[in-house]
Amino acid sequence: MLLEYTPWLDYDQQAALIRRPLERELSGSAHLRELVRYATLAATGHNTQAWKFALSENAIEIYPDYSRRLPTVDPADRELWISLGCALENLLIAARATGYAAEVIYPDATTTESIRVVLTKDTAQESPLFTAIPLRQNTRSDYNGQAVESALLDQLQALTVEPDVSLHFMISTAEVERMVEYVTLGNLSQYGDKAYVDELIAWLRFTKKEALASPDGLYTRGSGNPEIPRWLGKMFVGGTDPRQQADTDARKLRSSPHALVIASRSESKTTWVRIGQVYERMALLLTALGIQSAFLNQPIEVPQVRSQFQSALGLDQALPQLLLRFGYGELLPRSLRRPVEAVLV
Ligand SMILES: Cc1cc2nc3c(=O)[nH]c(=O)nc-3n(C[C@H](O)[C@H](O)[C@H](O)COP(=O)(O)O)c2cc1C
Repeated sequence: MLLEYTPWLDYDQQAALIRRPLERELSGSAHLRELVRYATLAATGHNTQAWKFALSENAIEIYPDYSRRLPTVDPADRELWISLGCALENLLIAARATGYAAEVIYPDATTTESIRVVLTKDTAQESPLFTAIPLRQNTRSDYNGQAVESALLDQLQALTVEPDVSLHFMISTAEVERMVEYVTLGNLSQYGDKAYVDELIAWLRFTKKEALASPDGLYTRGSGNPEIPRWLGKMFVGGTDPRQQADTDARKLRSSPHALVIASRSESKTTWVRIGQVYERMALLLTALGIQSAFLNQPIEVPQVRSQFQSALGLDQALPQLLLRFGYGELLPRSLRRPVEAVLV
């Protein structure tokens, strides 16, 4: 516990500390806390970390932390529950690698609106996905356009998905180009909406000092932007020209050789959790294969654009849930997480 309260460390050391290798020699609740630490390394919308974990002898429960919800960008808590699914997937992979079999009870089957993971001792099963947990990153840099080898694309396309969830790959440049129009429409809508921009500003951390004081949210350098004082950052972001933001993201998308939509046949908390699991599994596989990826979810976050996007993709009954670009690009500074103590109930 003491190890994780280290205000004297600098940003990079703090980011590395939370990602230190999982301590395998522990037992009982100390081991479960290590599993929780690995769970919190998962992706989370705006890095809100809207999760809480309850430990009992042989189970871990994951709860939503609605005090950290994003009412403007995510009014139905869809992305919040997807984020819990991301944490669940890391937890399951880490449990398997350290000698546990797990049974999952999904939120629509519990009375407490949580995800329950029941653990029993089993033989440890190492996997490259486990090794990738502390290395995964939502890499927002421009990519270099280099295509992913077809043997690796085959591995990505063969990823096991969850019930109700499907993967739709955009492999050719022409297919990726078709996404630009919808990312642009999403950006024009979001950056034209003061409530969206204000919510984003509230979760931006403009300096290392701010990020270390509140180890959640989006540190500006993690998006490739410089550090600036908050008053100036608020002015810049508050005055963002929606067209300019749309052009920046169009450039990032065009720099990416491939894209992927994760879709589902239904819309429920359980389905959202399963979507999160599939994203995290895919992002870990991409990481293990040395490939970078980043979200561009604007066309799905804006309801009017989402339905147009769905028709354009020809997904039939499947609802688009997440849009990712992937390829090769420079890593950016890693995001921070709150210590395990702060997320336990
Ligand atoms: C459901 C969900 C939606 C997200 N949407 C976006 C997005 O549209 N654009 C973006 O740059 N990052 C998006 N992110 C990425 C988060 O900002 C990122 O996971 C968080 O800042 C932590 O950083 P890390 O994933 O690099 O550890 C999303 C993450 C999740 C789980």
